[in-house]
Amino acid sequence: TVKGVIFDLDGVLTDTAEDHYQAWQMLADRHGMAFDRETNHQLKGVDRAGSLRLILDHAGAEVDAATFDAMLAEKNDLYRARLAGYSPANLFSGVRDLFAGCRAAGLKIGLASASRNAPDVVRLLGIADEFDFVADAGAVPNAKPAPDIFLACAAGMGLSPEDCIGVEDARAGVSAIHAAGMVAIGIGSEEALPDADLNVPAIGDLSVGRILSSERETAA
Ligand code: G6P
Ligand code: MG
Repeated sequence: TVKGVIFDLDGVLTDTAEDHYQAWQMLADRHGMAFDRETNHQLKGVDRAGSLRLILDHAGAEVDAATFDAMLAEKNDLYRARLAGYSPANLFSGVRDLFAGCRAAGLKIGLASASRNAPDVVRLLGIADEFDFVADAGAVPNAKPAPDIFLACAAGMGLSPEDCIGVEDARAGVSAIHAAGMVAIGIGSEEALPDADLNVPAIGDLSVGRILSSERETAA
């Protein structure tokens, strides 16, 4: 039985996935590293250091530890500059109705984002008080695709993982949800997220009814 829904943030509740991409692209350009939107797909859901490692690998570049850390700080500054203009208007349409539907159905709502900026983003979006629990990416040992953050979120809500459903826009995220033993709803096409148990094009296409039936279909 579904008792909780655990949402990813970037690319699921708001378009910060695009801002992460733009910030990485700017960093890559500044440092003369080859990078593009295509390569960025592999970065979705991947934590900050893991993302930079993938970018360096893809560009065939190597840097020392101090430069690596400086690049992480530079990317975060570029990203946070883009966040400055965020307001509740940046919440994807349908999220408020979906949360209200979850509440009405007695479901708890959790957040499992790999982003250290997640608490600030949900505050800017005006939804910080909507969550029963916000998992802390800095407090879990292993990043997505490991299940840690989804397990921490379920535990924080006082639920067992099998009673939770995860919602993700990234492959690493869908893998993390499955590794946690949860049903995974993918925001995006089957081509983009082939492993999801249910695909919807956008969060606005998701309803509590579909969330509840996705579990029944998977169990059947
Ligand atoms: C999410 C995004 C990634 C981002 C990661 C870390 O998973 O999908 O693109 O790299 O969070 O975000 P942070 O804000 O901590 O750099
Ligand atoms: Mg995401």
